[in-house]
Amino acid sequence: MTLLAIENLCVELDGPDGTLRLLDDVNLFLSKGRCLGLVGESGCGKSMTALAIMGLLPRGMRASGRILLEGEDLLSIGEDRLCGLRGRKMAMVFQEPMTALNPVVPIGRQVAEGLRLHLGLTRHEAELRAGKMLARVGLPVERFPLGLFPHQLSGGQRQRVVIAMALTCGPDLLVADEPTTALDVTVQAQILDLIAELVEEFDMGLVLITHDLGVVAESTDTMSVMYAGKVVEDGPTDEVFQRMAHPYTRGLFAAMPSHSSDLDATRKRLTTIPGRVPDASSRPSGCPFVARCSFATDQCSDAPPPLERLAHRHSASCFNLSRVEGL
Ligand SMILES: Nc1ncnc2c1ncn2[C@@H]1O[C@H](COP(=O)(O)OP(=O)(O)O)[C@@H](O)[C@H]1O
Ligand SMILES: [Mg+2]
Repeated sequence: MTLLAIENLCVELDGPDGTLRLLDDVNLFLSKGRCLGLVGESGCGKSMTALAIMGLLPRGMRASGRILLEGEDLLSIGEDRLCGLRGRKMAMVFQEPMTALNPVVPIGRQVAEGLRLHLGLTRHEAELRAGKMLARVGLPVERFPLGLFPHQLSGGQRQRVVIAMALTCGPDLLVADEPTTALDVTVQAQILDLIAELVEEFDMGLVLITHDLGVVAESTDTMSVMYAGKVVEDGPTDEVFQRMAHPYTRGLFAAMPSHSSDLDATRKRLTTIPGRVPDASSRPSGCPFVARCSFATDQCSDAPPPLERLAHRHSASCFNLSRVEGL
């Protein structure tokens, strides 16, 4: 069963030099209870996609296309309805926990707020349930009283509070945007494990945004590789890893630190993709990856390559698929 289907999503912003297209015809698909990994370097449009799903795009940005959550188009409903869905049907965990937390409100009340708002629980009932949820994410009330403030917790503990807030009303979809990037390395794996456990326990669909391909390989069913506002390759995670049809996917993989054995090799590999992601105001008319691609030919500068189907549900947009794969 389909939980989330994004069709032809474009996000545009009017600037002094004309209209910028931040997301360009993005299509994504997630089944109920599954995990979709969204990867790509910084600036490729991952967060914009997450914010578009949640209806939280910054002011001035226009989204077009369709974002279907269980068949309901989130782009065509009003803010009231969206507010009702946020928290109850879909929730988001941000990179930096303090983005989601109110620094002057005790953690218990922050977790309880959604329960009162969406489920109409009394203050007492809501706090009781908030306490249980906090215990479930590793913050039992005996050691972490509901009256604590966010600044009294570590980064990892704060992210646990955010996860409790996100999940307390039992959403069907969780969007986690680089949920561990701002945390100490030692707690990153714990938070990812916690998310994975909870996703399974509550039978949620997860959109997991990360620039870490290792995490994607380990914990997602399908993946989409984004580059400069477009999806350049997507498919079942194991198939994408096996074929890595798009040169950009190969570049990301080669840049994976855990892929190399010693530090020197790591340093060399981390420089594998020369250049950087073009920003929305300076994208070429052809393939967005052309300037950094070792397979590029004249054709690549002329027109953007269409997304080509390689196998059931596995696609990539590159004019040179056979040459890349022939390596
Ligand atoms: N508030 C904003 N105003 C204008 N452009 C933005 C804004 N936020 C992000 N962008 C641009 O949108 C593009 C996609 O950004 P983003 O989705 O944040 O990338 P990612 O999450 O993959 O790092 C980038 O080119 C970025 O410069
Ligand atoms: Mg981002």
